[in-house]
Amino acid sequence: MNRLLRACALQPVDRTPVWFMRQAGRVLPEYRAVRQKNDLLAITHQPELCAEVTLQPVRRLGVDAAILFADIMTPLIGIGLEVDIIEHAGPVLSSPIRTAEDVRRLRALEPEQDVPFVIETIRLVRQQLPPEIALIGFAGAPFTLASYLVEGKSSRTFDKTKRLMYTEPDVWGELMSRLADIAAAYLRAQVAAGVQVVQLFDSWVGCLSSDDYCRYVQPYSRRIFEALGDAPSIHFGTDTGWILPDMAQAGGSVIGLDWRAPLDQGWACVGHDRAVQGNLDPAVLLGPWPEVEVAARRVLERAGGRPGHIFNLGHGLHPETPLDNIVRLVELVHNFSLPPGEG
Ligand code: CP3
Repeated sequence: MNRLLRACALQPVDRTPVWFMRQAGRVLPEYRAVRQKNDLLAITHQPELCAEVTLQPVRRLGVDAAILFADIMTPLIGIGLEVDIIEHAGPVLSSPIRTAEDVRRLRALEPEQDVPFVIETIRLVRQQLPPEIALIGFAGAPFTLASYLVEGKSSRTFDKTKRLMYTEPDVWGELMSRLADIAAAYLRAQVAAGVQVVQLFDSWVGCLSSDDYCRYVQPYSRRIFEALGDAPSIHFGTDTGWILPDMAQAGGSVIGLDWRAPLDQGWACVGHDRAVQGNLDPAVLLGPWPEVEVAARRVLERAGGRPGHIFNLGHGLHPETPLDNIVRLVELVHNFSLPPGEG
């Protein structure tokens, strides 16, 4: 088993595994070169090019995992929704989903027919990836996908999403149920094609109270983890301080921690019977190296050498991050060891 898989299973590792959300993207000059000639969706539709973009960060950064290059909207585009991915803005829908009738547009996903290019990309990446590097697949979680579908675009406050949740609980339940089934089918197909770990991105779920999370979200996210059986999984969200234990209850072999809480406190909140991933503030990497070094060491010291820590950022890399800081950070994580008597 490679380092990342060992950490997912709470087993000791020779070095802390490290990868970064958004590692395949604009931080890399070789990605920007590909992107100049192809938009994001065009890249995902060409398996050879998509496999190349998935592998770029492994070569350049020395990370312990590749993450499938795709977007969280990929399976929804696969079932026929019209979604544009706008630079600097994210996914945009010309006709958002807000009524019972709209929800019926979300048919079941048949991965081999609807997203064959994703399955093919996974096969190509696995052929080229050395066994010590893990391949991570992913899907958007029902709440985060619902937020894009209902708002029609990115949002700060999620008013339309919450209004639907409170005023039409049945429509909300049907929407979440369909999204959960889509994500489950999508992730199972990724595992069957060769991904070794899957990450469920619930990036925006931290806007909910714990009560609302448990009532309106948790059953649907739980259904996805149940459908995954024994496949290792990472359950990620941001701003999740108060709902971390509720997210852990929904499932995931590993729970993502953002940067707001110190890693040891976040881990205690999740429970030490579970692995964690995190949690450097990605913005720290915009500063000078000595600051990065101090902050990264602090994360590692708080992990204390306990088995089950995957080093990552609290959220995705900012596109303007200096490459040198990222490369040095990977080296620091791999060479870190606790002073004698600690850990
Ligand atoms: O390296 C990786 O992490 C793998 C690829 C990946 C992308 N999107 C490619 C992408 C992953 C895992 C995602 C998931 C995704 N997409 C999420 C969940 C993760 C998170 O950040 O919370 C969300 C919310 C989206 C929706 C989305 N797509 C947004 C908000 C944006 C940013 C808009 C922008 O231009 O900055 C996108 C576009 C997107 N998806 C890019 C990339 C590399 C931007 C770069 C480009 O257009 O080439």
